Formats: sequence, C-alpha cells, structure tokens
Amino acid sequence: MKTALITGGAQRIGAQIAQTLHNDGYNIIIHYRHSKKTAEILAKMLNAQRSDSATIIQAELSNLDDIHTLSHSIEQLDVLVNNASVFYPTPVKEVNQDIWHNIMDTNVMAPFFLSQSLTATLRKTSGCIINIVDIHAERPLKNHAIYNISKAGIAMMTKTLAKELAPEIRVCGVSPGSILWPENEVSLTDKQKNKMLNKIALGKQGSATDIANTVLFLANSTYITGQIISVDGGRTLNQ
Ligand SMILES: NC(=O)c1ccc[n+]([C@@H]2O[C@H](COP(=O)([O-])OP(=O)(O)OC[C@H]3O[C@@H](n4cnc5c(N)ncnc54)[C@H](OP(=O)(O)O)[C@@H]3O)[C@@H](O)[C@H]2O)c1
Repeated sequence: MKTALITGGAQRIGAQIAQTLHNDGYNIIIHYRHSKKTAEILAKMLNAQRSDSATIIQAELSNLDDIHTLSHSIEQLDVLVNNASVFYPTPVKEVNQDIWHNIMDTNVMAPFFLSQSLTATLRKTSGCIINIVDIHAERPLKNHAIYNISKAGIAMMTKTLAKELAPEIRVCGVSPGSILWPENEVSLTDKQKNKMLNKIALGKQGSATDIANTVLFLANSTYITGQIISVDGGRTLNQ
C-alpha cells in the first residue's frame, strides 16, 4: 500500500489531490494548519471508503521545528505533495521583511526542508516529490512580486532536487493556471478576473480535478523527473 502526504490538504486543490490519490489506492496523510474541522471531515470520508486509509496532521510550515516534527512522525512515504501556499498582493513599495518571510517561508522554505527531512524515508520506497508551482513562476502576475518570486523558487527547487535526489527519488511539478479564485476575494477585482479569463485559450477556469489528475499521473510515472507540467487551459499561449 502506497502512502502520500499532501500539505495544505484539507480543502480546495489539496483536498482534491488527497481524494484523487486515495481513489487510486493510496493511503493519505492530510496535513493542515488551521483547517482542522475540514481535515477531520475529509479523513472521515476517506476512512469510510477504506478503513485506516487516512490520517491528519497539524503543522505550521513556516516553523522549522514543526516541519521536523511532522516529518519525523512519518514512517513510510511514497509521495510528498508540496501544495500548501500563501497568495496575496504585495505592491513592491509596501513589501517589508515580515511580508517577505510570510510568503517565502511557506512557499519555498517549507517545501525545501520538508523534502530534505523526508529524503531518507522517500529513498526507501523510491518515492517522489511533487511540487505545486504556478504558471506565474515564469511570467509574473502584476502586483504579486513576492508570490511570483516564491513560485520561481519552487520551480527551480523541483529541477535542482530532481538532480540531487536521483536516482532514488523523482521530483516533478504541476503548474496550475487559473483554477480556483482566492478565498480572500479582495485579492482580485471582477475586472481582473475577467481579464484573466479572456486570456485563457480554452475560455474557462480549470478545476481542482485537472490538477489532481496530473499529480496522480506524475506520481505513478516511473521515468519522468525534473519536469513541470503546466495545467492552464492554454493561458500561457496568451501571456
Ligand atoms: N487556486 C488557484 O487557482 C491556483 C493557481 C495557481 C497555483 N496554485 C497553487 O496550487 C496550490 C493550491 O492552491 P489553493 O488555492 O488550493 O491553495 P490555498 O487554498 O491558498 O492554500 C492551501 C492551504 O495551504 C495551507 N497553508 C498556508 N500557509 C500555511 C503555513 N504557513 N503552514 C501550513 N499550511 C499553510 C492552508 O492550510 P489551512 O487551511 O489548514 O490553514 C491552506 O488551506 C498552491 O500551491 C497554489 O499556489 C493555485
């Protein structure tokens, strides 16, 4: 039985990744930070489908001690999905060190140190790491400098760790385009949303299932490493 850890797996895209991998037979470790209730509900649902197939674990991923406690609690692991992230506008003139750390620690530092501390565990299973990146790792989203920089960081992390951790561990990425609007609706105005939708070749947002199916494809691949697949409805064709 294979096991997958999904960070930020209690809701939205992370929860769909958990469900999709679970449907394929994986046991799931759902990491959450604040969303305990939704993590419990999801685990209960997965355990009802297959007993003892899902557990939950809390960690503040901007804290290195929490990262180590989380990784030391895991005995067997086949897939680490670095999905947790923070996203909000950061006009350049307003950025300070707290904002920098708030975004960079969760989006870049945590995936790196989680990967580092789970390397030995993943080696034992010839496992893989799948990083959830963003198409804006390559072409910046206006007004989101620090998020863009963080996603460029995790994109390079994908490639550099693929080289460093081979041949035992594969490291890949999935770069979503527009999938779910941020829950903090002040992040984007209706005008900004329409402008984005108009640039998507397929004319609509993607779904969390589109991302989860790509994660599953990469998890079950045996000869792909260091690759990042964009799942963006052709959005990058018009960037
Ligand atoms: N949504 C999109 O359209 C879109 C587009 C491009 C890329 N992406 C990428 O796809 C992934 C999932 O997107 P999403 O919109 O579903 O994500 P999200 O809802 O913004 O965040 C996912 C989870 O990350 C967790 N998290 C945030 N900061 C954390 C911290 N310091 N420590 C631990 N956990 C933390 C939160 O867990 P709790 O709720 O438990 O606190 C949150 O539920 C992200 O990597 C995102 O950058 C998404």
